[in-house]
Amino acid sequence: MSHPSERPRRLRQTARLRALVRESDVTPERLVYPLFIVPGAAVRKPIPSIEGCFHLSADEAAREAREVEAQGIAGVILFGLPEFKDERGSRGLADDGVIQNAVSAIRAACRELLVITDVCLCEYTSHGHCGILEGGRIINDKTLPLLAEMAVSHARAGAHVVAPSDMMDGRVGAIRQALDDASFTDTVILSYAVKYASAFYGPFREAADSAPQVGDRRGYQMDPANVREALREARLDVEQGADVIMIKPALPYLDVIRAVRETCHHPLAAFNVSGEYSMVKAASKRGWIDEQRIVTEILTSIRRAGADLVITYHAKDFARWVR
Ligand code: PBG
Ligand code: ZN
Repeated sequence: MSHPSERPRRLRQTARLRALVRESDVTPERLVYPLFIVPGAAVRKPIPSIEGCFHLSADEAAREAREVEAQGIAGVILFGLPEFKDERGSRGLADDGVIQNAVSAIRAACRELLVITDVCLCEYTSHGHCGILEGGRIINDKTLPLLAEMAVSHARAGAHVVAPSDMMDGRVGAIRQALDDASFTDTVILSYAVKYASAFYGPFREAADSAPQVGDRRGYQMDPANVREALREARLDVEQGADVIMIKPALPYLDVIRAVRETCHHPLAAFNVSGEYSMVKAASKRGWIDEQRIVTEILTSIRRAGADLVITYHAKDFARWVR
């Protein structure tokens, strides 16, 4: 009988052996959980398009955040639905805005949980675009001061990390400068540096009521066909002072995560977005897939591709499974 000279199966014999040689792993401390904040008090309303997630008022968000912290999850990222919207998204910049209130409530309730805020105008503008709209165009340089003001306002409320998601050119530099000028030199910038114009954001836009009223976001978000451009975006944001670089969506762009990982030495985040999540939820509800195994495989793939941390709506479920 002939014997193979190499036997990879030898290391697959038991769970202990497999764990011993595992190359990537997922733990709750690598995960960030999104929260959607609404005005008022005692509001906890299911979000139809993102099953298992809720619209929360600041008090309820603080309660949810305490649970998330107890599960060992690294942090929360906050998205806001304001009392009203206008052309300039002014409720996003107000020190008594929904996000600002929720940040202080969560900081008061939690000891260690990281509080991250999404910095963008689309949830606060009447037209639903991520920047100032004039004559049917998004005006890059007029948007920058508003984003900077929003970031400073979030930092003042107590955000540890601000995460600009608008895709305006030069915004990381503008935000860093404004934070430093306001003495928030330690506030971290997690830049959505590589953000594609994706149909995978559909359920989020319903949840955040942030779909553009006219046109689309292809004039500022990236073309899904491009990967060299991702390296350029990542480089520009690093040069402007970003502390962490994000790629978004995650699963359809694992090659992009890998490519950025190989050229960029900053920590990388990946956003496992609402459409990725909702597809898994819908299929598991029908019994077509094993949710726990699928989610673990997806999150492992994102880590294997090169992401240090993952923003995911699965975070609470995953943390429950690994307890
Ligand atoms: C706001 C923003 C979006 C998401 C995060 N921040 C939506 C968009 O750009 O249209 C998407 C998150 C998700 O789908 O889970 N700019
Ligand atoms: Zn936006």
